[in-house]
Amino acid sequence: MARLNPENTELARELIGHYPRPKSALIPLLHLAQEQDGYVTDEAMVHIAELVGVTPAEVLGTCTFYEMFKREPVGKYLVNICQGIACTIMGAEELIGHAEDALGIKVGSTTPDGTITLERAECQAACTEAPCLQVNYRYRYRVTDEDFDGLVAQLRSGALDAEIPPHGTLARRPYRQHMPADRRNGPGFIDGAGEPVWIKRHREAAEAQGSTS
Ligand code: FES
Repeated sequence: MARLNPENTELARELIGHYPRPKSALIPLLHLAQEQDGYVTDEAMVHIAELVGVTPAEVLGTCTFYEMFKREPVGKYLVNICQGIACTIMGAEELIGHAEDALGIKVGSTTPDGTITLERAECQAACTEAPCLQVNYRYRYRVTDEDFDGLVAQLRSGALDAEIPPHGTLARRPYRQHMPADRRNGPGFIDGAGEPVWIKRHREAAEAQGSTS
């Protein structure tokens, strides 16, 4: 359980500065918390609430709305096997049964070594490639039992580390986009009256159009 560490607190403040209202940064900050710990801790939600000026309950409300935010520890790899109709017809239930046997766990739980969490998922929008699964949201198509076993072996050996980062990782630095200070929430972004400049531009254009029609 952890609040955002100093580095991520600094990054959180930068993210908040991208928005006209601090509260608008809630979702990016939840992603940041999940990237830090692999899931969103209660302490991180309290910290985020302090940073953006809302109640912890509001942060919790946003966090629980989105399935991709986890509030309990999950494995380094989250394996979601699709149970949609196309995948079911093409053997998803058998694949899920094989995965449970191979990993020695039931769906919804994590291997004792903390490597893999197994979940069912609804249609992953790859129905022509059924049955499919995702590992930390990276697709694997037309998965056989043997494919699954090979995938697990590769995950455990680290052979896929370059392709599949640990659960929660969004953008590996130095690839994360940083907004220059002069493009953030401040001079040039908010005008003197506190109105975001792009909203002001659109409002004035709409008003000008209204006055000529
Ligand atoms: S049913 Fe599995 S991807 Fe659509």
